[in-house]
Amino acid sequence: MNKVYFIGAGPGDPDLLTLQGAAVLKTATTVFAPEPYERTFADLLTGKEVVSPFDYDFTELTARIKNRLETAPVAFLIPGDLTFYSPFQALINYFGDAAQVLAGVGIANAASARLKRTLDLPGVCNRAILVSPRTLGNEEGMPSLENLAGKGAVLLIYMNNRPLADLCADLRRGYRQDVPIALLHRLGLPGEEIIRGTLDTIVEETAGLDYFNLADPSGKPSLTLVIVGETLSAEVDGSWWDYRREHIWKKRRKGNR
Ligand SMILES: C[S@@+](CC[C@H](N)C(=O)[O-])C[C@H]1O[C@@H](n2cnc3c(N)ncnc32)[C@H](O)[C@@H]1O
Repeated sequence: MNKVYFIGAGPGDPDLLTLQGAAVLKTATTVFAPEPYERTFADLLTGKEVVSPFDYDFTELTARIKNRLETAPVAFLIPGDLTFYSPFQALINYFGDAAQVLAGVGIANAASARLKRTLDLPGVCNRAILVSPRTLGNEEGMPSLENLAGKGAVLLIYMNNRPLADLCADLRRGYRQDVPIALLHRLGLPGEEIIRGTLDTIVEETAGLDYFNLADPSGKPSLTLVIVGETLSAEVDGSWWDYRREHIWKKRRKGNR
């Protein structure tokens, strides 16, 4: 039986597709590719039927997939991967054993690499929280961004729909101090930009540019990830390494012998 593959496609640069994803993509004759993957993956999609999944309602989409599965595997290119903020769960459930999910490079992973920063750092940050003001909503009793921000927290803010100045004001109240922030715009795509600053300076750093498409009435996704937290600028020396080597790694090595 042919399968429908949900391939974690990374931030949009085909070089960040896994070897497994690339091998499976080769076998599919129909590929559901959201914007901008149909363009950035064009070389890997030559000769295939390439369709946007968002052009169909659920019934039309499942019927189309079933029809194509009669002759060959079908592939979906999932932005980042399935782990966070991915709308494909209902399809995966619908196809059950015929669906297979392949891990990819999440936007958070690509951002951490691009910034050359681990997002938790002993003594500086002890938790990383993935969040979107769009999905958080403002229902009574739900934590706000202000509640989630605070000492030791790194926030990764997806799909921001708030004006940057308002977002920073909320975060500033939560952190109770100025902390570093970075906007990662179009990671791995043409036009990539990284804007760094602090909660107090970032609005000025953006020079009035609309990195979140807030002025675009089409609601087109902005492809900007926000990361905020002290780990972005923390200085670290080798003492943490030596401490762990002395108290943890040495013991483990002895245990392995
Ligand atoms: C629906 S979520 C997709 C998250 C994805 N499933 C993942 O694994 O990371 C879309 C949001 O991810 C972020 N995003 C997606 N692609 C991006 C890119 N190439 N550069 C920066 N941010 C991106 C933006 O915050 C965008 O609004």
